[in-house]
Parts: sequence; structure tokens; C-alpha cells
Amino acid sequence: MIYLDHAATTPMDPRVAEAMQPFFSEAFGNPSSQHGWGQRAEAAVDDSREMVARALGCRLEEVIFTSGGSESDNLAVRGAAFAARARRGADHLLVSPIEHPAVLATARALAADFGFTLELLPVDAFGRVDPDDVARRLRPTTALVSVMYASNEIGTVEPIPAIGRVCRERGVIFHSDAVQAASQLPIEVDALQVDLLSLGAHKFYGPKGVGALYIRRGTPLTPIQTGGGQEHGLRAGTHNVPYLVGMARALEITLSERASHNARYRTLRDRLIGVLDDLVPEVRLTGHPVERLPNHASFALRGIKGNHLLAHLDLAGIACSSGSACKTGDPKPSEVLLALGLPPDWVYGSLRVTLGRQTTKTEIDRLLQVLPGVCATLRATDSR
Ligand SMILES: Cc1ncc(COP(=O)(O)O)c(C=O)c1O
Repeated sequence: MIYLDHAATTPMDPRVAEAMQPFFSEAFGNPSSQHGWGQRAEAAVDDSREMVARALGCRLEEVIFTSGGSESDNLAVRGAAFAARARRGADHLLVSPIEHPAVLATARALAADFGFTLELLPVDAFGRVDPDDVARRLRPTTALVSVMYASNEIGTVEPIPAIGRVCRERGVIFHSDAVQAASQLPIEVDALQVDLLSLGAHKFYGPKGVGALYIRRGTPLTPIQTGGGQEHGLRAGTHNVPYLVGMARALEITLSERASHNARYRTLRDRLIGVLDDLVPEVRLTGHPVERLPNHASFALRGIKGNHLLAHLDLAGIACSSGSACKTGDPKPSEVLLALGLPPDWVYGSLRVTLGRQTTKTEIDRLLQVLPGVCATLRATDSR
């Protein structure tokens, strides 16, 4: 089997599992307890926070641990929206239309259930937000701007520092979802000019179900999970010590190895993108040709259903993904591809190929060998 779906999740690095192990057994304490067991667990949480803060270039108290990317996005978007409304009556949310549902569905829920006004930013044909558009659309009542760092679906990297500058000049809180970006791009928050940044460990070879939210000092945020006073009262619940240790170790490894992995990804990705066009008719790259994640290649294929394509690839032993993820029945058109302005017969057949640390040239060649036949078969059968 060939795994080319690293944007969905990555295998946990064995060095991460090793670092986590003691905290499942002898070092099982609750970090909130006073005794020795508690102190050892607390030290592990502190060390993990220090590592994450170092990666982000921020203060320790600006890192909040969560259960993953979705929770970080929820805390950022809901927390900032509710706090801005309570403090200054702000109720306008400015969000990109290509966000992950953890942001987009959350913003929609705030509009539908809590009376916020949601405005979607325009994007160009590559899915890029123009910082000038953000500037034009900011209102005195804007509570939050949220634009992802890099797209999970089309790989496009957004001009985050420029958008951050615009928001800062106008005193508006800026959140960026860096869940996909963190494995490959720098995440120093001052350079990015963000107030809130979401991370999820399973996208950078850490465990699933753990993440972090960076919250710039002084950013008003209303907690969404209340209880004990953990995480400065912003996220109640006993710390998941082994998973926090795992996330920190995974991030440490990522930072030290990022440059060499990225160089290899780029070579393999560019070969795939360059050759596919010649092998399969009516295929186009989606997302930005240059400003994109090094490991990410995504395509739209006219007249093909994404779920059928994935099923055929799976039978051939290749695991990929499609934007219009739907395992059975008729796939829904990809919202992201619709936002890019692709015509209707192109938005059902997307293919996402995301490379990982173990991906080889042989694996990419195998995909290139299999795809033309699968596409020809599907075009003959799907159109009947
Ligand atoms: C951009 C982006 N944001 C958020 C998430 C959700 O993260 P998690 O799976 O850790 O909840 C994902 C996961 O696919 C993602 O790609």
C-alpha cells in the first residue's frame, strides 16, 4: 500500500511514541496534584509548553493546550467573537471561504445561532486572499478576521503577514489556522503578525487528539469549555499529559528536520505536477502553482467523480484524498473549488496527493502509472 494522504493525517514518529510512553505508566500523575506524581506530570506539561512556545517564538502563558485543531479553531473563533461582542458590541466576522469546516462551520453557527454577521472574503482563482480586500471590508464592528495559513484542500499558502499587518493597523483580532502549515512552514507568530494561531499535532507526526492555540497577550477571549482553572481558565480539563509530551516532541523533530524534508517534497511534488498534465487529459492543478505547501499536489479532473477515483486508486493500493470527500453515493461539489470559480463539471473530481517523510520516487511513479488508466475507465463509465 502506498500512503499519499499526509494532509489527512501522518503516522506517529516512533521517537514521539517513545517520549510519550512513561506518561501512560509510571508517570501517570495529574499535573494539578501537589505530590510527587503531580509534580512530575506538571514538569512534563511545563516542558511541553516551553517547546511549543519556542517553536512559536512566544511567551509560555500564550500557549493553550487543546484536544486538536478543531478545538483550537473553535476556541479562537467563538472565544474572540463572544469577547469582542461583550466588550464593544462587535458582531462582524470576516472569514475566507476556503477555511476548514472547523472555522467555517463555526463562523456559520455563530451567524445562525448567535446573530453574528458573517462576511466571506473574496479569493482569486488560486484561493488567495488579497490583503487589500481585507482592509476594504474591515468595519468598526469587526470582531475577528480568520484566514488559514495553508489550505488543506488546495495547498495554497495565504499572505498571512500582510493580512496581519492590515488587521493590526485597525486593531482587529486576526486568527490563522496553521494546522496544515505547521509541518512545513515557519510558525513564528511575530513574523506572521497573528493574534491567534491553531495547531494540531497529528499533522506533524504527533498523536491525534491534541493541539494548541497561541493567544497573543492581551487578546480578549471568552472560554468555551469551563470547569477547573487549567490553562489560565481558558480551557478546563485535566491535561492529557502523554499527548502533550508527544506533541512537543513531534514539533521539536519537525523543526529540526523541516528543511530537508521540504526539499525532497518539492522535487517529488513538482515531478508529479509536471508529468500528470501530459499523461491525463483535462486535468488542472488547483491552488497556487508556487505559493503552495511543499508536500501538496491537488488537481481537478473534468467529468470524474472524486469518490470513484479514490475507490479505484485504493484497489490499486494507493491511498489519496479528494476535496469532495464523500465515501458513498454521489459526491457533493467541493465548496473550495466552487469558491475558486471552477465550472460545474470540474468540481466533483478533485484529487489530493500529499507526500510524507517516507514517500519515495517509486511511489510517485506508481501513481503516475496507474492514474491514466483509472481516469480513462472512469470517464468511459461515469459519463454513461
Ligand atoms: C486546516 C485544518 N484545520 C483544522 C483541522 C482539524 O484538525 P483536527 O483533526 O486536529 O481536529 C484540519 C484537519 O484536517 C485541517 O486540515
